[in-house]
Amino acid sequence: MTDKPIGVFDSGVGGLSVFSELYKLMPDENYIYFGDTINLPYGSKSKEELIKITGNIFDFFTSKNVKAVVMACNTTSAAAYEALKDKYDFKIYPIVQTISKEIALKNYKKIGVFATQATINSHAYKKELQKYNPICEVFELACPKWVNIVENELQNKPESINNIKIQLDLMLKNEVEKIILGCTHYPYLINVLKQFAPEDLFINPAKAFARNIISDLKEKNLISGKKDYEPIFYVSSNPIQFISASKLFYNVEEAVETDISKSLIK
Ligand code: DGL
Repeated sequence: MTDKPIGVFDSGVGGLSVFSELYKLMPDENYIYFGDTINLPYGSKSKEELIKITGNIFDFFTSKNVKAVVMACNTTSAAAYEALKDKYDFKIYPIVQTISKEIALKNYKKIGVFATQATINSHAYKKELQKYNPICEVFELACPKWVNIVENELQNKPESINNIKIQLDLMLKNEVEKIILGCTHYPYLINVLKQFAPEDLFINPAKAFARNIISDLKEKNLISGKKDYEPIFYVSSNPIQFISASKLFYNVEEAVETDISKSLIK
């Protein structure tokens, strides 16, 4: 069991912000990453669609005989984890539910969340944070353009910078103490965000998420420490663009195109 791979997935390169932290802390594991580029952005999809997509990805990971799946995607953690969590034999780590407790216990009174529309619609962050800190006010704001900005490497275009600044200004009106980057794509925008606000205003949950996963794997005796192959990257379309957009967090050199989720195109 311990020598089986760990599956990690997201709609595209966003999940690499999580994968890179896991890989830094635990390089001697076998990893299989899936970027569902044909279905991105997940943020504009319905809950039903997201459950279907996530179920397909979990079936793919079942076929790869994984010991655990890291949901390096806030949107599917928020919309699909509950519906699927008891249906698979591997351990599942959803990002929102795993990291909210640690953030809530810092006792902030006003916290902001930037996330996709589907994550915001679910209020998953608000619910999870207030479970552990009921007096915390949570201000949620969807940033629907940001995933495409990252996937298409448009971070430095004036219209992108303008959109990022508009969203940030809207959030800052709430006088929040911290802003959670509640979509794994958003840490790719930190170089723009920090032009307009101090970098430590933003919480990138990836490090804390990776730490939590590792301590749980250790507790369950699921660490192998013996890798048989370098991380393998699969995408559902456009491997060239995926490789190009990946660079900030992990230098993907090869991505294999697989059609596991093509049936979901509308
Ligand atoms: N990066 C994902 C998330 O954390 C999904 C973004 C999308 O495809 O809309 O929510």
